[in-house]
Formats: sequence, C-alpha cells, structure tokens
Amino acid sequence: MPVADPWRLLKEAQAGGYAIGAFNMHNEETTEALLLGAVEAGAPVYLQVGRAIIPHMGLRRAFEMTKRVAEASEAQYVVHLDHGPWDEVLEAIRLGFNSIMCDYAHLELNDNIARTRRTVEICHDFGIPVEAELGRIPDAGQDVNWDEYCTDVGQAERFVRETGVDTLAISAGIVHGTVNGEVPPLDILRIEAIREATGIPLVLHGASGLSETEIAAARGAGVHKFNADTDLRHAFRSGIETVWSEGDRQLEDAMAEGRRRMVVATAEKLRQYGIAGSLAHPWVA
Ligand code: G3H
Ligand code: ZN
Repeated sequence: MPVADPWRLLKEAQAGGYAIGAFNMHNEETTEALLLGAVEAGAPVYLQVGRAIIPHMGLRRAFEMTKRVAEASEAQYVVHLDHGPWDEVLEAIRLGFNSIMCDYAHLELNDNIARTRRTVEICHDFGIPVEAELGRIPDAGQDVNWDEYCTDVGQAERFVRETGVDTLAISAGIVHGTVNGEVPPLDILRIEAIREATGIPLVLHGASGLSETEIAAARGAGVHKFNADTDLRHAFRSGIETVWSEGDRQLEDAMAEGRRRMVVATAEKLRQYGIAGSLAHPWVA
C-alpha cells in the first residue's frame, strides 16, 4: 500500500478527537505484526524506528527493512523516526522517512528551541512534519521530581510559536516503560492547558500501561498521537515464552506466536485510540 499522508492524519485526528497509534518496529516479524494489526483494525499506523533498533541494525537497515515489509502489506502506514538526534534527523530525511521526531529535550530551553526550529525549517522544505519534545519523560523506575520533568504550559506556548513544530510530545506524569506498583496519575489538566496554549496536536509517549479510561481522557484533553512500545513488545515476548515453555521448538514457531499475539494487541490499541475503522478516509494523498 502507498504511504499515508501524515499531515492529513494529524489534522483529521485532531478534528475528530481520536488519536494515531505509533508503535516501534524491532525486526521483520514485529513490523509485520504492526501492519497486520492495522489491517485488522481498519486503521493507518505509524511504524516507528526507535532508539533500541539503532545500535542493533543501524538507521538505514531499519528503514529499508521497514519499507520493504510495509510496501508488501495491505496497511496504510507512515514511517516515523522516534527521538532522533540531529545527525539522525538529517539521515532520516535523506532515506525518505515520512515523519520525524527530533528530541533536544535534554538541552536548555533556548537551545531546544533553536535546534527544533532549524529541524522544522529543513524538514518542511522536504514536506515532512516534525514532532519535538518539551519537558522530560523519565524511564520506569526512575525516581524523579515531577515538577522538573513535566512540560511547563508557558514554555510550551513559546516553544510552539518560535519553532513552528507540528506536534508536541509532552511530559505529564508518564514514563517510558511500565511500572510495577504505583503509577503516577496522568496530569489531564496540564494536557488541556498545553492544548489551549499551543493549539497543535499533542503526543503522549510511554503510552504502555495506560487504562482505557486514561486514554479516553488524554484524547479528550488534546492527545492525538500515542506512542506505545512496551505493551506490544510484551505481547510478542509472551508468545515466544509460551511456545518455548512447551519444550524445545524452532525459533520460527516461537516468533510466529509472538507475531500473532502482537497483531491482536496492536489492533486493540488502535481501537482504544478511536482510529479503528477510519480507513474510509482518504489517508493516501
Ligand atoms: O517512543 C516510544 C514510546 O514512548 C514507548 O514508550 O514503551 O512506555 O510504551 P512505552
Ligand atoms: Zn518516547
């Protein structure tokens, strides 16, 4: 299938109050699972090339494999760079990514703004929408002072106005990975305030482990793209573990069961995001 138009997807998701599902690929089988889950849900999907895959196979190989598998599928998809540093953003443009997230959130505000603005200028010249991050998203288990990590509403207004970024990844009580035990509540009021201040679609990273109620509340507050990885990776892993717990089996048997479970989990996420069944829209430009 051809690539879906990310600009149109974001606009329609915001207008319709639903959200795009963006999920990390890790190998050929997980890429297939995301695409098959999208077909099952009747929804487009963002295939994310994330941080873990880069040291494993490199950006070019990850992109080429993702494209090859996606082009052979029935799904409508966008290939998205997740948390990209500057050099990777430039390489991603050259390779043909359809959507890019630059992540300079570790920098001081003025530097984050300057870098993001330059990224937006370059990406827009190539017709690529840009997501950037403001505030910091901790890893599961990290002990953080949330006041220092959460996105500041006033800074978000300035950041979006000065960078021209298309979507904003925010920190509002969310972590990368899933937590055993007490989870910080999502700061829905902060999300709403950032929406009011910026007017652009917001992105919630670390969306694994969220309840359906929290997902609905976040959508209502202005989140129109969820990034989830851990939950889907766990679905794949559970398939592998189940097959191997039955005794020695071929790796292919285990991966096939992992893929099957990840398809189901992907389709369920797309349903919760409200985007399932949306393929009636003309996503492809
Ligand atoms: O960018 C990727 C995500 O933020 C994944 O987070 O593994 O907690 O779902 P997660
Ligand atoms: Zn993330």
